[in-house]
Amino acid sequence: MSIVSNYDVIIIGAGAAGLFCAIEAGKRKKSVLLIEHEEKVGKKILISGGGRCNFTNLYASSENYISQNPHFCKSALARYTQHDFIELIEKHNIAYHEKKLGQLFCDSASKQIVNMLLVECEKVGVDIKVDCSVKSVEKKNNFVVKTNLGDFESGAVVIASGGLSIPKMGATSFGYKIAEQFGIKLTKTKPALVPLLLSKEDLQKFKNLSGVSIDTVVSNNEVSFRENILFTHKGLSGPAILQISSYLKDEEELKIDLIPDRDLSEIKNSTEKIELKTYLKNFFAERFTSVLSENYLKSKPLYQYNEKETEVVKNLLKNFTLNAIGDEGYEKAEVTLGGVDTDELSSKTMMAKKAVGLFFIGEVVDVTGWLGGYNFQWAWSSGHAAATSL
Ligand code: FDA
Repeated sequence: MSIVSNYDVIIIGAGAAGLFCAIEAGKRKKSVLLIEHEEKVGKKILISGGGRCNFTNLYASSENYISQNPHFCKSALARYTQHDFIELIEKHNIAYHEKKLGQLFCDSASKQIVNMLLVECEKVGVDIKVDCSVKSVEKKNNFVVKTNLGDFESGAVVIASGGLSIPKMGATSFGYKIAEQFGIKLTKTKPALVPLLLSKEDLQKFKNLSGVSIDTVVSNNEVSFRENILFTHKGLSGPAILQISSYLKDEEELKIDLIPDRDLSEIKNSTEKIELKTYLKNFFAERFTSVLSENYLKSKPLYQYNEKETEVVKNLLKNFTLNAIGDEGYEKAEVTLGGVDTDELSSKTMMAKKAVGLFFIGEVVDVTGWLGGYNFQWAWSSGHAAATSL
């Protein structure tokens, strides 16, 4: 097939990063073709944040990202910040609120974010093609992108095809394959922000706890998160577990402080006759205290606990340990850890050092944010960085 059209830039993947990059490139008078293989754009934005899109975080900084090179994300995050994105949201009169820990959500629906991005795309004349599958990307003098809707030529190509999480939302390994085609290294990928699986034995103990949530501090050898954990019928989820899942090594133990603001020292001098398991109902759901007393603690009246025994109870609750046997995989992971090796890209422009005119942005890059709006902020910031240097 002969070339159908020429563009300054072709962006592949119309998720958060691709849409935003298209807008910023369009603002800079570039002709932009945005290609999406699904039937509509921004599917993950639509389902994000429980349908309310946690579009950024007030406190986003490089500390909230995981990457082989922790400094890589600094430049893009500094040049297009959470405050810049908030300004855009406000310009479009989208009402929002802070849920907790700086996490900003739409008051109404994620659809408002997609609509805003589409309005901005239209303003600057971005050409969007959905249901468009890319067959190949080749570099001659220019790039030639062959698709089911024709062949297109451009001076630059931006890969914004995301990671591997949630294949049914359109996730593919396309970006990694293009990287390999151009001799660009990848770091190992792995599901992240993902619920964890527990062994049969643990599940047997916790079988009645599905749906129980507890305020905790969850740690591994590297980091700690103060958030809730949630028991599921397969293992553990909830914000603290999702956060630690991005850091947890194979077979590494999870340490859970079940009583973050207490040390139970009150027990050792207690004259109370109530049983420990009854006392613990002050802090935990009854279903959980039953599991503790059936499997971990011998409950007796509080006044009978001496110092040593109090220490044993305290230790159990402050250093509760579990071993996950795996995770729920890309089907359930919010993001993909790893991806295009940041050593291969310019942190200022997101362009591949080995392929002039080829850019990688968003989740396909080895930059993974914490839970809480950080991943979208990376999509906006990296999309902006590429657009300003096209
Ligand atoms: P993204 O995955 O958004 O977009 C990639 C696009 O490329 C998709 O539209 C895909 O169909 C398309 N594509 C793939 N292969 C292609 C090909 N071969 N040809 C053409 N197109 C192709 N983050 C956050 O900050 N706040 C939140 O509230 C949430 N909530 C959330 C909920 C759930 C359930 C998930 C799964 C994820 C989140 N996230 C999140 C993470 C966030 O959605 C994610 O990090 C960003 O969407 C990444 O943006 P990208 O544009 O890089 O990829």
